[in-house]
Amino acid sequence: MSKEVFNPNPEFSKQARVKSMDEYWELQNRAKDDYEGFWDGFAKEKIDWIEPYNKVLDESKAPFYKWFVDGKMNVCNQCVDRHLKDKGDKIAILFEGDKGDVEKITYNDLSKRVNKFANLLKENFGIKKGDRVVLYMPMIPEAAIAMLACARVGAIHSIVFGGFSAEALKDRIEDASAKLVITADGAFRKGKPYLLKPVVDEALSLGGKSIEAVLVVKRNNEEIAWVDGRDHNFNELIEAKSDICDFELMDSEDPLFLLYTSGSTGKPKGVQHSSAGYILWAQMTMEWVFDVKGDDIFWCTADIGWITGHTYIVYGPLAAGTTTLMFEGVPTYPDAGRAWKMVETHKVNQFYTAPTAIRVLHKMGENEPSKYDLSSLKVLGTVGEPIDPPAWKWYYEAVGGSKCAIVDTWWQTETGGHMISPIPGATPIKPACATFALPGIMAEIINSDGEPKEVGETGLLCITKPWPSMIRTIWNDDERYVKSYFSDAKKDGKAVYFSGDGAVLDEDNYITITGRVDDVINVSGHRMGTAEIEAAVKKDDSVAEVAVIGVPHEIKGESIFIYVVLKDGSNSEDIKSHINSILSDEIGNIAKADDIVEVPGLPKTRSGKIMRRILRAIAKGEEITQDTSTLEDPSIVAKIEDAVAKVKK
Ligand code: WTA
Repeated sequence: MSKEVFNPNPEFSKQARVKSMDEYWELQNRAKDDYEGFWDGFAKEKIDWIEPYNKVLDESKAPFYKWFVDGKMNVCNQCVDRHLKDKGDKIAILFEGDKGDVEKITYNDLSKRVNKFANLLKENFGIKKGDRVVLYMPMIPEAAIAMLACARVGAIHSIVFGGFSAEALKDRIEDASAKLVITADGAFRKGKPYLLKPVVDEALSLGGKSIEAVLVVKRNNEEIAWVDGRDHNFNELIEAKSDICDFELMDSEDPLFLLYTSGSTGKPKGVQHSSAGYILWAQMTMEWVFDVKGDDIFWCTADIGWITGHTYIVYGPLAAGTTTLMFEGVPTYPDAGRAWKMVETHKVNQFYTAPTAIRVLHKMGENEPSKYDLSSLKVLGTVGEPIDPPAWKWYYEAVGGSKCAIVDTWWQTETGGHMISPIPGATPIKPACATFALPGIMAEIINSDGEPKEVGETGLLCITKPWPSMIRTIWNDDERYVKSYFSDAKKDGKAVYFSGDGAVLDEDNYITITGRVDDVINVSGHRMGTAEIEAAVKKDDSVAEVAVIGVPHEIKGESIFIYVVLKDGSNSEDIKSHINSILSDEIGNIAKADDIVEVPGLPKTRSGKIMRRILRAIAKGEEITQDTSTLEDPSIVAKIEDAVAKVKK
């Protein structure tokens, strides 16, 4: 483990909200001593309550926790309306299109556009509190506006990332029984138009019968098919709508959104988030971890289809009243300087991206950042996967000029916001290390009985107390919620939240995330279950058996490696493109495998269990340390090794 430590920039610390580790510990100890009092204070200070809550935390039905019980508020009010008095003319959303077109939307403009959108949802589509609305959107302002409009009328949005296939979109529509899909004709990427609406058409031809209407925003004006009666032109309809619309009074615990994510078993699960607890932590982490203030320009490069986009492009920045930069394109187009040019042009103060992007930008343009004026940068962030020390160092030195803190933020779709992260004015940072749990978050590295792990020993990363922005349940599947998150670890006899990640403490009690310990893989920060990929491949008639594993990848973090056994007589020519086209149809292009190896069989025990560890070792080119004599057919190992060697040649 690296011993290098970088102290916070003293100039930055002076003006920061949390200025030192003493202040950090003061906050964290306050939470430890009086947990409910800690959250009560922040909830009262930060949230614009319309009716006060009468209990901070209700644990009576654990692990179905309730926060700020019976309080009434509205997330759209928290993000928009309450800022109008002081910040109406401040830019809320600063949009840059793929082609460099810029749109500046003030809080006043945003309020009007959200209200119009909310009226459209209510009046034209009968959307009301509790209805589910699916968004299949590109990165354009209307995506954020649609989210806020849903929040305003009390509808529950479920955003499906634009890289998912029609089949995946259909499954998510059906699981949530959504009434409306909001999409766009398409958008621009790398200078060219691409289409989204045809994927919605296909999804609805495959199923999704609950959908009554499709609302289409025009972005690139490409020609698209139109189903009369079902499809509606947003740009035409929105004109006539009033820009005044009262927000719905929402209970603290009313669901704000669903976001589907992958687990180690079965199909993707609809992670359900609440209103008050979620927005409170989204706002607090913006303030602590990014320390946004004044006229700061905050840029998170995620897609709104992922939790990072939800919390740190839309909800967190707007709740904190800051200016959020939203970008339609990719940071490598037209060249590797695009992101740095945008930082210079817009004077970005906080920049938040994924390790994969950092590795790509590093590889494409080691000295590229030096060509631009990046002096506006104060805080750099990373999220989504473990970052490796070389990428971290380049980010720190070449991008941050050795003066910006790097906040390596560990969190998950289920946690709603950051959980473990440096605080930029306080925490001495170490490369590739998430450091400490944020104040109020009780993260522990334990074994399944709750015993703490020794320094240097990897254990289960658990959160041993409920927190406001935590997942409330899996949509329509309370049982799976308990099984997925509250069945693997106990502390003092009580089930605690297990993240699925492993972690380790160093001698200074710094936390380093070691990665998933379950069958979830992380490709370029996209989370996928091996079971889900296997189920997709098995749908093909020629496939007898399949095993999917993740292997380390220089740029993507991990890549997908598939072992496939074909049925007798099946054609094994072009097996790679054949299986990849199935994955692209069933899940989307993000699920494409780098390696697909046809093997004569899989290593199984006599009871039929696949020995994945052997498959992992072979794929990584490592020595096999397991005892293979217990396999039903020990000779299979050499055959698999041969098949892999042939493909790798
Ligand atoms: C991984 C993304 C190491 C982790 C916000 C987690 C990380 C999963 C980090 C969640 C980090 C996220 N260091 N690993 N800083 N941040 N992860 O739900 O394995 O898309 O469980 O949420 O990403 O992915 P998700």
